[in-house]
Amino acid sequence: MHYHQLFLTLVAVVFSIYADPSPPVWPIAFQETFNETSTLPVVGTGTNIQGTYYYDFDKKAVRIDRSTGKYDRYCSSVKYFQDTPCTHLVVEGLRYLIFPALKSCCMCCTAESGCGIVKPDWLSDSKFIGYNTTESVKYQVWDKKGLQDNFYWQVDATQVPYAIDQQPNDLMVFDVTSFKKGAIDPSIFALPSYCSKSHTCPLLSVCTVAR
Ligand SMILES: *[C@@H]1O[C@H](CO)[C@@H](O)[C@H](O)[C@H]1NC(C)=O
Ligand SMILES: *[C@@H]1O[C@H](CO)[C@@H](O)[C@H](O)[C@H]1NC(C)=O
Repeated sequence: MHYHQLFLTLVAVVFSIYADPSPPVWPIAFQETFNETSTLPVVGTGTNIQGTYYYDFDKKAVRIDRSTGKYDRYCSSVKYFQDTPCTHLVVEGLRYLIFPALKSCCMCCTAESGCGIVKPDWLSDSKFIGYNTTESVKYQVWDKKGLQDNFYWQVDATQVPYAIDQQPNDLMVFDVTSFKKGAIDPSIFALPSYCSKSHTCPLLSVCTVAR
């Protein structure tokens, strides 16, 4: 081997060790539970919101259950700050807000108006911030900049989603032991009988702006 070849090989090795990891890509389908701390102006801060995230890109479906909708700006704007469970369900291009304890449901907004689901590569334009090893687990930290920083954390070894930190007012921390990859039971995305696409959310809700 010539010296310059050896040199180039060494350069390649060094780059592969120090290069940033490639941007996160979500599995086509997964589910995972989370805890959330969320602040809504006027309403205040909810610190122990429990939830489950179901994502299935093949079905273009998402369901996000929360133990309370009080601190979610969509749910809260429909039920005026009530402390009652709330689900976002996106199916067939429409986002519904469902209040299971109240057997109440309304169609919020359409995928065409930006209420659809994210693509598995929605983080492709995010910036690698670095690793965080404060806990015994090594996490990758990414920033998908919007108006504010949106930090996304995943476990370095397994690429399992760990946190979505929408600065400054919403932090979802996933329980990585609950992560399940693969197609989701269709019953999860079934529209409750009390939902109808013609029943749109109230005029004075955030949904009207989104529509
Ligand atoms: C890692 O995350 C913790 C919070 O979980 C934070 O306090 C710490 O500053 C972070 N470390 C680095 C190097 O960013
Ligand atoms: C989420 O909150 C529950 C109830 O406070 C707690 O038992 C659980 O350990 C939390 N999970 C995580 C991953 O922090």
